[in-house]
This record gives sequence, C-alpha cells and structure tokens, in this order.
Amino acid sequence: MAEVIAGIGVSHIPALGVAMEGDGSGPAAAVFEKFAPVREWVRGLELDTVIVVYNDHASAFSLELLPTFAIGAAESYAPADEGYGARNVPVARGDGDLSWHLIDSVIPAGFDLAVAQKLDVDHGLTVPLTVLFGTPDEWPVKVVPIEVNVVQQPTPSAQRCFDLGRAIGRAVASFPGDARVGIVGTGGMSHQLQGKRAGHINTEFDLAFLADIVDKPQRLTEYSNRDLIREAGSEGAELVMWLVMRGALGDDVTGVHTGYHVPVSNTAAGLVAIDNRGREQ
Ligand code: DHB
Ligand code: FE
Repeated sequence: MAEVIAGIGVSHIPALGVAMEGDGSGPAAAVFEKFAPVREWVRGLELDTVIVVYNDHASAFSLELLPTFAIGAAESYAPADEGYGARNVPVARGDGDLSWHLIDSVIPAGFDLAVAQKLDVDHGLTVPLTVLFGTPDEWPVKVVPIEVNVVQQPTPSAQRCFDLGRAIGRAVASFPGDARVGIVGTGGMSHQLQGKRAGHINTEFDLAFLADIVDKPQRLTEYSNRDLIREAGSEGAELVMWLVMRGALGDDVTGVHTGYHVPVSNTAAGLVAIDNRGREQ
C-alpha cells in the first residue's frame, strides 16, 4: 500500500540552501535554528520517495518551451548548471514506477502533464532537499519532480493547483506497490526579485498563509493569481505550489512544525510540515 504520509511547504531561495549547508554556527545560525528541526521529524518518517513540486527557473525549460505542468520520469535528475555551475549536491534518484503510475492516473483525471524523461533540476528542487536532508553523499529518498509554470502568464490558479494535488493524492493511494511518500511544495514566501517592488515582503500575509495551509486551505484557493502577486510579490506567487502539496493531503491533518525568517536574501523564507496520518499522530 502506498500513502502520502507527510506534506512540507518550503522556500527554495538559493541563500537558504547555503544557510542550511552549515553546522548551525555563524551568520546563518538563526535560519538554521528555525528550519533544521524538521530534519529529525522527516528522518523518523522513513520516506521512500518525495514528490517535489517546484518551478524551473530557466534551467531545463525557458520561455521558448515552458509546460504548465510537467512530471519527471527519468532514472535520475542531475543538478542543473544555473550559470555559475551546478549546486554541489547529489544527483537525485528517480522513482520510475511511481512516476509512471502518476502519469497514468493524473493525465486521465484531467491534468495534462508534460512528461520529461530527461530533466536537470535547479535550486527550485534541490534547495528544499538540502533543507530537509542536510548534506549527505546520497539523498536518502527517491524523487519525483513535478514542475509548475509560475513564470509565464497565465499561470495555473491556486484552485487548479490544489485540484492537481487532489489528483496526485488519489493516484498515490492507488499505487499497487508499497511506498511511504512525502510531498514537498516549494517556493515563496513573499518576495519580488525585480522591478519597482523589488524587496517586497508581506509578513502578515505570509504568517496567515502558514497557518491556513494546514487547516483552511480552501481560503487560500480563493486567491486569484493577481491577488497572490499583489500580496506576495511576483515571485511570491510561487506559493501556488504549496497548494499542490496541500491538495495531496487529507482533511484530517496535523501541523507539526513551522519556521519563518526574514530576510533570507531580500526574501521571506518559510516552512510548514504537515502530518497526513490523522489527528492521533
Ligand atoms: C530567490 C528566491 C527564489 O524563489 C528564487 O527562485 C531565486 C532567488 C532569492 O530570494 O534570492
Ligand atoms: Fe524561485
């Protein structure tokens, strides 16, 4: 039997990766303290595979070719060269059986995923792995990447992303093999990297989002993309990927950890960890 055991929402800011590569001392200590405690909880879950919902930042895709949704179905995913060399992190092992089961389930359910049988993954996917697992020689889990376009308008809505998550959750539940699966929604929190509002941070919005993603995700699905950009900034709209994660979980969940730190670069970094095994956990 396969089940989605846990959901995690986490920023993928490159500087967050750098902060989490350390030992908790030095200038990044405050960030490390807030985000590293989740590692022990994740280790205890003994996950086989994590589905990482992320956006590509012109590394594997570009404005010339940018799927609204794509799924990796490769044996492995190498860290992408983002212009200054690839991040020094392990190559992620794929989970072909789960990828193809998701493809066979989620596309007939009405979500036309592009299928990527070769995919280099950038900080959008690798920084969250560093937050969750530190700096091992090999990632301790297999990975299924799911890419979402949050760059080229029109991007998929919060509601559409939540519904995709629902379809992913149902698909995992019908996987014929045994698998302990986690799902990670990446990006955010509030930030804008360019233009007149560069440096925009909306802490009130972020903290309400961190609270409601656990128990009131329906409120968050009511945001239009325009609302999200106004409140959270042009790149803060990456938060729709947290709604894919939340959609894959049930109604009966427990929030086990949150972290929030401003600034990391000129950006708000957030983390939420949600247990999907029912209230008794
Ligand atoms: C930063 C944030 C991002 O989401 C990203 O993709 C790149 C950089 C930042 O805050 O520096
Ligand atoms: Fe980003």
